[in-house]
Amino acid sequence: MPHPDASMAEPQWHDLGPVAELRQRQLQQLSVGRTRIALTWQGGQFGAISGACNHVGGPLGDGTLDGEYVVCPWHHWKYHCRTGLGEPGYEAESIPRYDLEIRGDHLWINLEAATKRSRLPHEPHPLARPVVRAPGGIRVAGISTTVMDPAYPRFSTSEWLLQAALDHATASGAETRMLRLGDLTFRHCEGYYSKSAHACTWPCSITQMDSTDQLDQVYDALVHWADVIMVATPIRWGAASSLYFKMAERLNCVQNQTTIRNKVLIQNKVASFIVTGGQDNVQGVVGQMLTFFGELGFLFPQFPFIAHSRGWSAEDMENNVRAVRQSADLKEGAEQLMERSLCLARDLVDTTPTTASIARGGRKAHHLS
Ligand code: FES
Repeated sequence: MPHPDASMAEPQWHDLGPVAELRQRQLQQLSVGRTRIALTWQGGQFGAISGACNHVGGPLGDGTLDGEYVVCPWHHWKYHCRTGLGEPGYEAESIPRYDLEIRGDHLWINLEAATKRSRLPHEPHPLARPVVRAPGGIRVAGISTTVMDPAYPRFSTSEWLLQAALDHATASGAETRMLRLGDLTFRHCEGYYSKSAHACTWPCSITQMDSTDQLDQVYDALVHWADVIMVATPIRWGAASSLYFKMAERLNCVQNQTTIRNKVLIQNKVASFIVTGGQDNVQGVVGQMLTFFGELGFLFPQFPFIAHSRGWSAEDMENNVRAVRQSADLKEGAEQLMERSLCLARDLVDTTPTTASIARGGRKAHHLS
């Protein structure tokens, strides 16, 4: 039973070590048993506050000092280095502080916290709502990854075929949405996962911190709204477009939830692909996309992509544009790809989610150590 008043609890003094040694670093993360401490030497004074951030547990002692404030290394929340109070305006977002005493030439800490942790209520991000398919007909999101100058748009062969596929879906009674990554303002992934798997959050850390970032539209379509995702990309130097990869890196947070929490955000949804390029490497491009979208949890219809390439020696791109525009075969191929995707989606929509049987799926089949 926790003591009702931390300040009245029995002291548990513990020797942290020689003062001279502990003064060497302005900020350090220490562990005493299961207690994590962020110890500071700032302005000629020691300070000890919890080493676990209120947000999602970032190791505060591994962060940085901004004046008298410890800055969390994960998403930059700040706490006063001696009081544990949140930064000005957010004082009530506080973490425990610990009493310190210098005895002889050693620094001692009372592991019974002098203050308690307190959290301000935070409105959950809209994307954090439960993943429950809303009733209604099949919904299809097309994602065009083509890069172009919006002031002077050009003809995109992959987007043209994607639009043909979406038109077919609309004619079949589905709701459709076209998302052009080139129209969205969104930041590159800034590597929260590279700090710690737990620093990569759902919803994406950037999405939660930056309300101007527009990748929430893609997250909403993939996780919540759509039953079918169709992704179109040109081939650029044997790979998908740079915007495709910019989006893919930001989708790490979706896959990471399966890895660290067994939380499957995407299931019973279909993905398919349209790939066009003046030159080649269709299989390489699609192979990457199939692997990646498979890791996210998507399922694929039989023959999950269509592609068009005029071959290694083709540099006459004007003719390529004309060929795609005039090709009834390619347009029909895009429509048939959509039809295969819709058929699978219709079968899946009424299927009971299979979370339990796929929770450790994919390349992370083993438990993390
Ligand atoms: S700001 Fe500390 S864990 Fe996110």
